[in-house]
Amino acid sequence: MDTIIEPFRIKVVEPIRMSTRDEREACIREAQFNLFHLHADDVLIDLLTDSGTGAMSGEQWAGIMRGDESYAGSPSYDRFRDQMRAMTGFDGILPTHQGRASERILFELLGGDGLVVPNNAHFDTTRANVEHSGARAVDLRIPEAADPTDRHPFKGNMDVAALERLIDEVGADRIPVVMCTVTNNSGGGQPVSLANLRAIREVCDRHGLRFFLDACRFAENAWFIKPREPGQSERSVREIVREMFDLADGATISAKKDGIVHIGGVLLLRDPELLHRASDALILTEGYVTYGGLAGRDLEAMAQGFEEVLHEDYLAYRIRSIAYLGERLLGHGVPILEPPGGHAIYIDAAAFCPRIPAEKFPGQALAVGLYRLAGIRACEIGSVMFGGEGHAAPPMELVRLAIPRRVYTQSHIDYVVEACAELHATRSELRGLRIVEAPQVLRHFSARFVED
Ligand SMILES: Cc1ncc(COP(=O)(O)O)c(C=O)c1O
Repeated sequence: MDTIIEPFRIKVVEPIRMSTRDEREACIREAQFNLFHLHADDVLIDLLTDSGTGAMSGEQWAGIMRGDESYAGSPSYDRFRDQMRAMTGFDGILPTHQGRASERILFELLGGDGLVVPNNAHFDTTRANVEHSGARAVDLRIPEAADPTDRHPFKGNMDVAALERLIDEVGADRIPVVMCTVTNNSGGGQPVSLANLRAIREVCDRHGLRFFLDACRFAENAWFIKPREPGQSERSVREIVREMFDLADGATISAKKDGIVHIGGVLLLRDPELLHRASDALILTEGYVTYGGLAGRDLEAMAQGFEEVLHEDYLAYRIRSIAYLGERLLGHGVPILEPPGGHAIYIDAAAFCPRIPAEKFPGQALAVGLYRLAGIRACEIGSVMFGGEGHAAPPMELVRLAIPRRVYTQSHIDYVVEACAELHATRSELRGLRIVEAPQVLRHFSARFVED
């Protein structure tokens, strides 16, 4: 059979509150055109993020009941640790409450004034944590990543020649860690090849540098490697995942993505001295090393989620359903970042609304339009998220339709396609926006806008 079905049945449902266009008009105005300010029950299809929004399985909910809430030495921690160890080969395994807590601890230890952190592409919280430490965050995308229509199979790859040039320019002693984000979220959920990870490792070894993964979507990345990378099709996802982690000295992970949990994160470290210091920092700000800011039940859900995400029938369904959305949008002439990524489809807002310049935020205008028309909440990834004083203009103006794991069915996705196609047909009516108030850091979460 060619049809790939959802490899699960639905046992519990959450009603969606239907809304009218007039109601949504009032809501978006009250939210001052920032979709983060909307009440979630005023949203029909919530594609703001795939983070912490997945549906947990029966076994994960069973784990929630089994959770042992002992302050120290909980067997729930042991199950979490054993799962992470078997999957990644790491011994230094610290739970944190989410990805950015792992990032904060890492850059508190490794960051600092005058230092430089390269990455294929930093995501917003990673960049903010690097910069908060005083270091400079540098993105080293391959040139193909700048062209939304280039169908490079590993568009998330790091430009390794550019990494060499950066090391020559600033000196290895000013680079505390080289990071690589798998898959590359701000670059379109695009995968990184094993060959690229091996090449980064080789450069790091030659210069005595640490190499860390931002591994939020490691399983989706591995699923792309299997069919696309020569010599990988016969390997299991588990083996590919293991090789990805074997290449790294450490990893920050938000378990809210491929861990399919509502809250949780991980910091993996090989260096015993760094592990020791990170454990102290964890105890100071997150919690004791066997719970790290989480409840025992959360550790159970994470252990089970990290197991389920490696199931290949799940990954086949997951990646195919994202591609389905992308292909149908392209069929309606909606410009998207190609090829479709692992957790989201990114609409090319600059091509969608060519009459709205970057300083009037075409991505935000598109996201506002989509909400007004159909109650769909998407996320701008462009000049609102990455622009502002002291920041270089982002390479693309994107709107991300992030698909929560195991939550929406094909008819929800068909509704999204219909809405995007209708918005595209009436795109000349979209209006640019101006920011009237925004904080210095991570401004997209709380900026307030007016229509131009
Ligand atoms: C690539 C990447 N790194 C880090 C994070 C931060 O994770 P969290 O939201 O759990 O703090 C995210 C979250 O979206 C992400 O996509």
